[in-house]
Amino acid sequence: MKKLLPIVAIVLMIVFASVAYHFTKRQPENIIENTATVALSPQANSNAEQIKKLNEKTANITPQNSAELNDGFVFIQGQSFQMGSPISENWRIDDEKQHAVTVSDFYISPYETTQQEYQQMTGENPSERQGVDLPVENVSWLDSIVFANLKSVQAGLQPAYEITENSVIWDRSANGYRLPTEAEWEYATRAGTKTPFNMAIAPSGKEANFYSDYPYEIEENYFDNSKLKAKPQRSRYQTIAVGSFAANAFGLYDTHGNVNEWCWDFYGAYDTQATVNPTGVAHGTRHVYRGGGWNDFGKNLRSAYRGAGQSAFKSHNLGIRLVRNAQNLDGKIEAKNEAFSPVKHEKILIVFYSWGGNTRGVAREIQKQTGADLLEIQMVKPYSDDYNTCLMQAQDDQHTQKRPKLAIKINNFEEYDTVLLGYPNWWASIPMPVATLLEEYDFSGKMIIPFASHGGGRMGQSVSAIAKLAPNAPLGNALSVHYSGGSTLPQDVTAWLNANGIPTK
Ligand SMILES: Cc1cc2nc3c(=O)[nH]c(=O)nc-3n(C[C@H](O)[C@H](O)[C@H](O)COP(=O)(O)O)c2cc1C
Repeated sequence: MKKLLPIVAIVLMIVFASVAYHFTKRQPENIIENTATVALSPQANSNAEQIKKLNEKTANITPQNSAELNDGFVFIQGQSFQMGSPISENWRIDDEKQHAVTVSDFYISPYETTQQEYQQMTGENPSERQGVDLPVENVSWLDSIVFANLKSVQAGLQPAYEITENSVIWDRSANGYRLPTEAEWEYATRAGTKTPFNMAIAPSGKEANFYSDYPYEIEENYFDNSKLKAKPQRSRYQTIAVGSFAANAFGLYDTHGNVNEWCWDFYGAYDTQATVNPTGVAHGTRHVYRGGGWNDFGKNLRSAYRGAGQSAFKSHNLGIRLVRNAQNLDGKIEAKNEAFSPVKHEKILIVFYSWGGNTRGVAREIQKQTGADLLEIQMVKPYSDDYNTCLMQAQDDQHTQKRPKLAIKINNFEEYDTVLLGYPNWWASIPMPVATLLEEYDFSGKMIIPFASHGGGRMGQSVSAIAKLAPNAPLGNALSVHYSGGSTLPQDVTAWLNANGIPTK
């Protein structure tokens, strides 16, 4: 046995070296830190704060004469188009069901909203990476609504939204600034194209700002890039000035990448009967965002890809692009706030999946600080111990949206009010055993607070994946941990628990 030990040690070193090699090979170390994503207030169901902000700021605005409006917005001639993706589109997701939609004429900003514009209107700049000509990020759906109204007031236009205590009412006849509907967004982005992206081939880092180390279809071509049309290129790991690349055929910049863009619609299955100016499902708990951002893989930049986040969700990867009517629309649509009851965090479960042990280490640190119950997700058929084999098995499972069988059973699941859900970032999303867990158990009314170990991609689109799979669960602030988290892990975990109001020992 003693003789075997050095051999085992060498094998383990090789395994860990290869884990560290992949997903770090092009990473500048200084950019990656353990970061809890910014505090949102998932427990606040009232819009009182937004109403106050809107009233205060409106009082300081001297409206311009709308007859002199010169905002540079692009006129989009409405038409019918195929919204969603064809079954043949690689890496499509089932919620992109293709259907015919007609949109009326509208105006849209050629650029994503810059930090300068946002700051001028709101007096605030919440962006993680600051710069006047960078797109604003770290703004919630509700922040975007307030911003749109303030901009309307300044331009002398009729504000599109009425913000009430518990809802946002969109007056479709108003001529003011507003968020695009998903259909408007996709129509303007596609600019007549039917392909996955609005350019001839998938973008590389030369055509769009995204996680360009991982262009479209890299997943199944990871070990041999020869078949890839868009080759991997070093990612920028940050937003860049809006309009840095060529525009699409309608004259819009950064429709793929830089930041995702909030849309009006609640996230839900497409109503394929609602074909004229659709505005999304009537009730929901998440709003849609589109286009992919600097931290997204190529597959998540596709014209048909749909991200989803609750109205208070904020991310360094998510911003705004506004539109306004060019044709009269009528009716009012009310988006009611998510009706989540406050969660008391009286009984907490830490449940996690870990392949290499990093997430397990984070989960144990959380357990140490909270004393909560701890459970590791085991699979009936675990992924291979060989790193490269596991990479391919995991991408294949994600590609086919497989739900691998779990070898665990949580008998008293209904007793928990809070679930701290841990996993490694795999191919910019959750590992599929985590998807199985989310579908197998009823998370309604329980708060899910995600934590992920990653090799540079932080949360990727994993929070959106959870938001879609557990639509009736409020989501807390996520914690992303670089690999094992290093020496700051205990403080980072404490800060994250505090930000979420989770009691510590
Ligand atoms: C199948 C697979 C896919 C991965 N995909 C990503 C990714 O998309 N982004 C990223 O930052 N890291 C990625 N990684 C790296 C892991 O997130 C990272 O090594 C993490 O610390 C692993 O946690 P674990 O030890 O708990 O399994 C991937 C690793 C594997 C095995």
